[in-house]
Amino acid sequence: MKGIVLAGGAGTRLYPASLPISKILLPIYNKPMIYYPLSVLMMAGIRDILIITNPEDDANFQKLLGDGSQWGMHFSYKIQHIKKGIADAFLLGEDFIEGDSSALILGDNIFYGSGFEQLLKEASHQTQGATVFVYETSEPERFGIVEFDEEGQAVSLEEKPAHPKSNFAVTGLYFYDNQVVHYAKQLKPSARGELEITDLNKLYLADKKLRVARLERGFAWLDTGTHETLLQAADFVHSMQLNQGIEIASPEEIALQKGFISPAQLSAYLADKPKNSYYQYLARLLKN
Ligand code: DAU
Repeated sequence: MKGIVLAGGAGTRLYPASLPISKILLPIYNKPMIYYPLSVLMMAGIRDILIITNPEDDANFQKLLGDGSQWGMHFSYKIQHIKKGIADAFLLGEDFIEGDSSALILGDNIFYGSGFEQLLKEASHQTQGATVFVYETSEPERFGIVEFDEEGQAVSLEEKPAHPKSNFAVTGLYFYDNQVVHYAKQLKPSARGELEITDLNKLYLADKKLRVARLERGFAWLDTGTHETLLQAADFVHSMQLNQGIEIASPEEIALQKGFISPAQLSAYLADKPKNSYYQYLARLLKN
């Protein structure tokens, strides 16, 4: 299975903070935002990842993440020159996907909660169809929304509906079988001129191949779209990390847990890192 992080777009809603640098490279407390979605794909066991960037920030992403070998990963990069929509990721990623199944995550989506790894495992083991993850929201007008029938089956999907039929938002993490590029090529730009991920999911729904997994109430799905929610996300990460003495979304830790790198490799990697609290945490993992 291949993974894609969609990290393009201008992030103008966060100007001036995101004017000199992509929003997705801004910190969420002590890590760049992209660490969080990247960690999700790594937790799903995906090691081959395409990072789609905007032209201005491609070099910055490469400076931060390199070729991924430091974490036992393989990262490729592709520039999205025009913001054509989320589903454009599958047209840009066609050669990278090479007929495999794939998972897409939006660069500004943060997920945290117990049981998540199991949900990811189930989704990544599906060989047919698509899986989306829904989360109850008080602002359904801002998201892709799923309507369920009485048996709990998904019956419709709408992008940012003026009159939402439910409060269940489709989050920015999607798993697809090897037909996704074929489906993406059938899409036409929406009224706002974008290839909508919701339209792609509708094609799977129409073919009865859309699985909807619910993220339960104790789970956190965080938005980083505004100055306010960016700070809230940082506060959340800070307080969880402080209370539990853990790091949320550390690619190094996940790479070690998953056996992508050995303790000896992590030790060598840490040798030239500054002795700040983040790297000291990783050094403690090696001792324990
Ligand atoms: O966050 C979940 C929501 O994400 C879903 O519920 C919606 O169905 C989905 O359309 C999307 O809505 P947003 O309004 O949040 O999408 P936005 O245009 O803000 O794009 C999300 C991220 O993807 C953003 O960080 C920029 C990046 N992006 C977006 C587009 C359209 C790109 O890199 N290229 C693009 O062409």
